[in-house]
Amino acid sequence: LSLLSTLKNSNKLTIMANISASTSFVMFFMVLISSKLMHTCLSSSTCPPGYPEHAIPIYKEDIDMMQFAENLEHLEADFFLWSALGYGLDQVAPWLAMGGPPPIGAQKANLDALTQHIIEEFGYEEVGHLRALKTTVGGFPRPLLDLSAHNFAKLFDQAFGYPLVPPFDPYRDSLSYMLASYVIPYVGLVGYVGTNPNINGYITKRLLAGLLGVEAGQDAVIRSYLYERAKEVVHPYNHTVAEFTIRISELRNRLAMCGIKDEGIIVPLELGAENQTMTNVLSANYDSLSYRRTPQEILRIVYGTGNEHVPGGFYPHGGNGRIAREEISGKKYLGGEALGFLDIAADWIAYWFQFLEEVGGFKNANKGTTMANISASTSFVMLVMVLTSSKLMHTCFSSPTCPPGYPEHAIPIYKEDIDMMQFAENLEHLEADFFLWSALGYGLDQVAPWLAMGGPPPIGAQKANLDALTQHIIEEFGYEEVGHLRALKTTVGGFPRPLLDLSAHNFAKLFDQAFGYPLVPPFDPYRDSLSYMLASYVIPYVGLVGYVGTNPNINGYITKRLLAGLLGVESGQDAVIRSYLYERAKEVVHPYNHTVAEFTIRISELRNRLAMCGIKDEGIIVPLELGAENRTMTNVLSANYDSLSYRRTPQEILRIVYGTGDEHVPGGFYPHGGNGRIAREFLEKP
Ligand SMILES: *[C@@H]1O[C@H](CO)[C@@H](O)[C@H](O)[C@H]1NC(C)=O
Ligand SMILES: *[C@@H]1O[C@H](CO)[C@@H](O)[C@H](O)[C@H]1NC(C)=O
Ligand SMILES: *[C@@H]1O[C@H](CO)[C@@H](O)[C@H](O)[C@H]1NC(C)=O
Ligand SMILES: *[C@@H]1O[C@H](CO)[C@@H](O)[C@H](O)[C@H]1NC(C)=O
Ligand SMILES: *[C@@H]1O[C@H](CO)[C@@H](O)[C@H](O)[C@H]1NC(C)=O
Repeated sequence: LSLLSTLKNSNKLTIMANISASTSFVMFFMVLISSKLMHTCLSSSTCPPGYPEHAIPIYKEDIDMMQFAENLEHLEADFFLWSALGYGLDQVAPWLAMGGPPPIGAQKANLDALTQHIIEEFGYEEVGHLRALKTTVGGFPRPLLDLSAHNFAKLFDQAFGYPLVPPFDPYRDSLSYMLASYVIPYVGLVGYVGTNPNINGYITKRLLAGLLGVEAGQDAVIRSYLYERAKEVVHPYNHTVAEFTIRISELRNRLAMCGIKDEGIIVPLELGAENQTMTNVLSANYDSLSYRRTPQEILRIVYGTGNEHVPGGFYPHGGNGRIAREEISGKKYLGGEALGFLDIAADWIAYWFQFLEEVGGFKNANKGTTMANISASTSFVMLVMVLTSSKLMHTCFSSPTCPPGYPEHAIPIYKEDIDMMQFAENLEHLEADFFLWSALGYGLDQVAPWLAMGGPPPIGAQKANLDALTQHIIEEFGYEEVGHLRALKTTVGGFPRPLLDLSAHNFAKLFDQAFGYPLVPPFDPYRDSLSYMLASYVIPYVGLVGYVGTNPNINGYITKRLLAGLLGVESGQDAVIRSYLYERAKEVVHPYNHTVAEFTIRISELRNRLAMCGIKDEGIIVPLELGAENRTMTNVLSANYDSLSYRRTPQEILRIVYGTGDEHVPGGFYPHGGNGRIAREFLEKP
């Protein structure tokens, strides 16, 4: 009883206050059951550690590269904490600041309840990240950070090429704040993707994958928030949300001077997934892998100077740690030349914008377009920007400002990496056909038949009844999976698509299993957008935790790069789905009597039960004990004690996707089991 009343009281403090006591009690009860499972199972042979044997936990060379990330995690921690709470790391976890000076100009932002809860969760997640980094690879004092409205205003003026009037204020309202947030976790994401090929310890690789999963998730939550509002005009300016994102991404590309590695939420087809979508909830390369950046590129961006030797922007005295300090003290200054070129490019872009705005194209384009249907003139503006960037790309890619960023004398792909990477193709196939069929009414056999490699067509796949927003997101996801399959099969080889069961009946069985009784009428993923997103909640998350589990075990720099790129996008997809569901957490799912939040909790709980290795999966609302730093019930992202993404072994994944809780007994989405050596071996040795 006292537990129940504690829970009730803490609920009152949150936006989710209206979830009834009995629902909360159900959640709490389920969590208690999971905790029990955790204790019984964690030591058993069903849950081996999942790390390579005889491997080195942390290499000396990993340390500086991992420490470098603390600069960005500090920026995020104080930006999010201050904005949500009105105080920062110095109050929440002062030992992690290690005596660094307090940030300049940090303040509480004026946020609505939804945004407030998301940002509070993000803030606490960064605390976990700093703790995980500093306890694993050591750390340095927080650098001086400039979080003042004035500093953001300068950045946005730079992005638009003229001074916004009144100056941009990130703390003004929720939308302004999310636009300002768009600036930050993405840089962490691409930095982690760039670092992964260069680190070798299995503990460092595990840490990085966990950090990358959550950074990519945060970035995706922000992007999908902005995507849902893409056509809104940002008060008090005359620019849409979409245009803000395009300008900021373009600024980052210009500052980093290494081509296009950053894309707004709407792009010309040439930059969309498979050249097929202008919807661009996630920013990714040709193969729909997350882009990667070197520390130099990151410093050029966050200093706002386009020069890693010249501090400024968020870091008035520069970053800390060996990598950042050497760039500053070394003064290997490229100076006039590099900056001169940058200025010319910037002026040129500003000129084109002015020109296009004068002829009226862009302003008209802002009025009354649909996401499906951005007018030709908008595309033209974007195209001009992209062309400009491409020019930069060609001038810069071969220059010393953009070294390849891979370790020297390293092996691209180890023989041992191959089976582990191929295993992922089972999941990518499931996602590809589920998303493509649902959005388009046809699947891989029409879009890229050679990737199916003669595997049988999926059972029961069909077009889903989706609204325009959901349709565009799922179409993008479908094409992204095509890129993933291509990247995997060309890099590590592949096998034919396994037989997939995508029938409504199969999903209905799964949801009955999740609720512990038959839903009436049976759950139908294809019924409407909300049902579809709930069904989608089932899938990319399994890919995400699988990639996190694989990263410590692979060694080739090309395989590590590939995995990080896949992980970034899988995590992004999962986060887009979760944030869609979080915004609707309290809605009752028609025609049942359960809220969206409860659906997610039941599915996550089912996956924990099937995998039999404790809690590695959490719904969008959790009891405080599972929230970031034990402080939030908001749980847009599912992550562990240190706010790192959970990891799973192939065995755990097969237990889940077979729906049997046994990697030797196929079923569920894979009536004949998965393909590839790992999955087949379990089937042969029951
Ligand atoms: C915004 O655009 C409208 C019409 O296009 C114009 O009347 C108004 O002055 C503009 N406002 C600003 C702040 O530029
Ligand atoms: C996209 O189009 C470009 C040419 O504009 C082409 O080089 C590239 O191969 C296309 N990408 C895909 C995935 O089809
Ligand atoms: C744009 O929208 C209009 C009306 O909403 C429609 O008639 C037209 O076909 C659309 N164009 C494209 C390229 O989708
Ligand atoms: C839903 O709940 C209401 C009241 O709690 C009840 O009257 C109704 O029969 C329930 N419907 C279903 C389908 O369970
Ligand atoms: C959360 O609470 C548990 C006890 O319920 C404790 O063991 C754990 O250290 C706490 N986590 C954090 C990050 O404070």
